[in-house]
Amino acid sequence: MDNNQQSVERDYFLCQLSDLEELQSIELEIDERKLFAIRQDNQLHAYWNSCPHMGIPLNWMPGKFLDLDGALLQCSAHGALFQIDSGECIGGPCAGDRLTPISLKQDGDQYFIAADQPLPARLINLREAALRDLD
Ligand code: FES
Repeated sequence: MDNNQQSVERDYFLCQLSDLEELQSIELEIDERKLFAIRQDNQLHAYWNSCPHMGIPLNWMPGKFLDLDGALLQCSAHGALFQIDSGECIGGPCAGDRLTPISLKQDGDQYFIAADQPLPARLINLREAALRDLD
């Protein structure tokens, strides 16, 4: 890890597995970084919400990460498709790349974002940057 790399300071409560239906997702933000987790086959899979193609969030609506068949994660920008359990991109402009997984801690039915894992770089907010430039 380079010296400028920030990490998750502490464990963050995410959810109880029983809070989610099969293929339902939950979103969270830690230090301005967005993440999501989705339940599949009684397991929780969590990723930083940043498409490897352009580094922007996958979803354009809260909680909407799946393709029409509900079988794969899909980026709303250019349609990249990802395996839910591995985050591997199997179609679209970043095929072969993958979402960055998040380490979870489990305590019974409760899941936490584990401390001490790397935080991704902050997303650049182009709108805010453009408005700043106008000042
Ligand atoms: S930003 Fe996700 S496919 Fe282009």
